[in-house]
Amino acid sequence: MNNRGIISKYRHYLPVTGKTPIVSLQEGNTPLIPASSLAQMANARGISVYLKYEGANPTGSFKDRGMTLAISKAKEAGSKAVICASTGNTSASAAAYAARAGIKCFVVLPKGAIALGKLAQAMMHGAKVIAIEGNFDQALEIVKVISSKYNVTLVNSINPYRIEGQKTGAFEIVDALGGRCPDFHFIPVGNAGNITAYWKGYKEYKRAGRILRLPRMMGWQAAMSAPIVIGKPVKNPKTIATAIKIGNPASWKSAVEARDESQGMIGTVTDKEILAAYRHLAQVEGVFCEPASAASVAGFIKLAAAKFFKQQSSLETVVVCILTGHGLKDPDRALSESVKFKTCKPAVPAVMKLMGLDGKPASRKRGS
Ligand code: F0G
Repeated sequence: MNNRGIISKYRHYLPVTGKTPIVSLQEGNTPLIPASSLAQMANARGISVYLKYEGANPTGSFKDRGMTLAISKAKEAGSKAVICASTGNTSASAAAYAARAGIKCFVVLPKGAIALGKLAQAMMHGAKVIAIEGNFDQALEIVKVISSKYNVTLVNSINPYRIEGQKTGAFEIVDALGGRCPDFHFIPVGNAGNITAYWKGYKEYKRAGRILRLPRMMGWQAAMSAPIVIGKPVKNPKTIATAIKIGNPASWKSAVEARDESQGMIGTVTDKEILAAYRHLAQVEGVFCEPASAASVAGFIKLAAAKFFKQQSSLETVVVCILTGHGLKDPDRALSESVKFKTCKPAVPAVMKLMGLDGKPASRKRGS
């Protein structure tokens, strides 16, 4: 088998033993897609831009990398139930892996703030879904208390196994680039677990001698949900990118460490910039991601427009943007951001009229 899942593939880097029951949906091995239109935008010689398309994971997001390990370790420890707070993707992933492991799954969500596809997944996999009349940060506080008092395992990214599993994304990027480390790693930031995980992954590959340098970590928060950028929690975060609508990230400290140790940055992108990147990826690169994912590319486009890459001295620059989740996760946003379809009678002339054709048939090729 080509893809045995991230635990089998990278087990020497992960806290598993022969006794760990591996719960896997063959996650990982996601495509690293070149994006020439983005490279052009950078307007700098020798730049390559790649999209790490995490939407190709089994439940459609990067969460599966962490969840395969978190659920395997929960099962190993004899846990009968797991719990998470979520803006959607964590709950979908937890529900799927818990179902596979035969473990109960509870998810606590901010009511009315979860994209439809994610909610459908969590429900369909049989999780017990509880919607609070509050936001993600409040949901996270609640599940922390419950998991500390009762026998239910927390599978948010404060569970260290989540970070361990997610760091394999960095390994895959380096492996796919033939042992080269990217110069810049662009990534959306919400609860800040993923930027923490990638930075850990790169550092471990460097320690193992697989790469000689480290990338600069370039994190992006939505402008009205940017606690790390403004330096204090945001009480009432707002953004159309619901996955990263978070005002008090759990991994705040380690995200700042990743930024500072790598001489990177964490910046903001507006909803308008996120949506422009979202449409560009779908309509020019043919890559459909969810809005929060497009924050990484929105950040890239913002820096490209500011001529940031022209100032780089290195003749060959490799940029990787993480696309964290699949576009089908949020069908409502996709419909509202695209051109409306038209309706007509079931007849050739009517369809042609809507196609904008003048009705004259093209001359047929001789012999056809
Ligand atoms: N992109 C997507 C699609 C996400 O679902 C998330 C987080 C992020 C980016 C940000 O990653 O939190 O590690 O900084 N979603 C979590 C959830 C919070 O509950 O699904 P992060």
